[in-house]
Amino acid sequence: MSQQGDLFRKLVSHCKEYGFIYQSSEIYDGLSAVYDYGPYGVELKNNIKDYWWRAMVQMHENIVGIDSAIFMHPKTWKASGHVDAFNDPLIDNKDSKKRYRADQLVEGYMDKLEDKIEKEVEKARKRFGESFNEELFRDTNERVVKYREEYEMVRQRLATSMGQGDLVDLKNLIDELEIADPDTGSRNWTEVRQFNLMFSTQLGNIAGEEGKLYLRPETAQGIFVNFLNVQKTTRQKIPFGIAQIGKAFRNEIVARQFIFRMREFEQMEMQFFLRPGEELKWYEYWKEARMKWHLAIGTPASKLRFKDHDNLAHYANAAVDVQFEFPFGFKELEGIHSRTDFDLGSHQSLSGKKMQYFDPDLNESYVPYVVETSIGCDRMFLAMLSEALVEETVPDAQGEDASRVVLKLHPALAPVKCAVLPLVRNKEELPAKAREVFNKLKLSFLCQYDEKDAIGRRYRRQDAIGTPYCVTVDFQTLEDNTVTIRERDTMLQERIPIDRIEEIVLKRVDMKNLLVG
Ligand code: GAP
Repeated sequence: MSQQGDLFRKLVSHCKEYGFIYQSSEIYDGLSAVYDYGPYGVELKNNIKDYWWRAMVQMHENIVGIDSAIFMHPKTWKASGHVDAFNDPLIDNKDSKKRYRADQLVEGYMDKLEDKIEKEVEKARKRFGESFNEELFRDTNERVVKYREEYEMVRQRLATSMGQGDLVDLKNLIDELEIADPDTGSRNWTEVRQFNLMFSTQLGNIAGEEGKLYLRPETAQGIFVNFLNVQKTTRQKIPFGIAQIGKAFRNEIVARQFIFRMREFEQMEMQFFLRPGEELKWYEYWKEARMKWHLAIGTPASKLRFKDHDNLAHYANAAVDVQFEFPFGFKELEGIHSRTDFDLGSHQSLSGKKMQYFDPDLNESYVPYVVETSIGCDRMFLAMLSEALVEETVPDAQGEDASRVVLKLHPALAPVKCAVLPLVRNKEELPAKAREVFNKLKLSFLCQYDEKDAIGRRYRRQDAIGTPYCVTVDFQTLEDNTVTIRERDTMLQERIPIDRIEEIVLKRVDMKNLLVG
């Protein structure tokens, strides 16, 4: 198994072992691509949502939040285009009976070409040592140039067939590239056909098509249909935004890679309403603002990149993904889209209700344009864990203490902020004193009291869930009211008066640290 594959496997088992994420309905062998968040998972997820909400709503006078219902009038999804066009190209393998997304099979082929290029570069780097000129090598090496040309040909062909909805050409491409079922190697494929990703259900008191409801596949439409309600009740002037966090549902054809692609997931979306003609200015603004948000938690810039969409949807005039380097490669973490007036315009046509804004500065009414930022909360969770989970050796330690697994999460996002540990539990005074400290601290942030097992083991347990501070109550505490405080990343311990614990912890876990700048 590759190093990255190994890291991913460890991450998934860490999530289960330490109560971050469980497979849904596990006792019935699980439900595919549906997951439950455990005690530490829910804390971390809530902190991610809190960070997003504060950065978007609290920090912007002209952004307000809503919480709209999951069920919406079925015409919503007709107007938004989801009934007719929210499809993925599906292909079945006749031998293995496995189902795939045709575009993802081709993308997998492209990933392999990229891997081949990187392998050639690495080989040459080793061969030439310090004199290696990477740029020149990439431009001139015969094999690299050949792989790059092939990559570009496949990329263009995929973009065209997807853009034009040409399923026959997509199938031809799979055949020409001799793409095989990744699990079995069989090339016995069906034709490619479209598959709508919306889940539907039925209203109890209305039979047939009339009563058909959809589980929302994005939260954004709840914002669009409430645009005028919010504008009128908050007296916002354009440009202004509406933010929302909530569940979304998609019947994904292939849902692998843990919580990366789920059938039930959570989105954090913001629609920014603006004057027609100003959309590209605001698009650039939000690209920069969102990248800053990602970098503020300590994600290295090398792990993030923008990727322009090869194919613009018919209603968009600009679209980019923020990609993160997951253990399985660079993949979409967030989307930023300039959606023109498509959504409001469509709702206006289908509902017959005006979706216009009167602009007092221009003295005219118009349907606003929209720039959207949309990020999956679960994907953000996965990105953070894959960056934070570290296995490291501990200097000067032996035996089972010689290495540790630590979650180096930003302290403001860590599930538990401080653990209070009596050094031993068989002397009654120590647990009693530690409880006294714990009861005081829990008023300010989430704390944990733990007296079980040797102190080293308890430190390791807290490292594994990312707790920034451990406070140990020992015999000296009983004499002079001081404790030791241990910092997670450096493992350095300091002796401080009990009265200073709250101030030290609060200083590091304060969300303000992420919002300034
Ligand atoms: N309103 C725009 C929209 O929904 P999207 O690119 O389809 O755009 C936005 O989704 C974000 O939602 C993605 O960048 C991703 O983070 C997250 N997302 C989409 N599908 C997902 C899935 N099946 N599982 C987990 N997250 C998903």
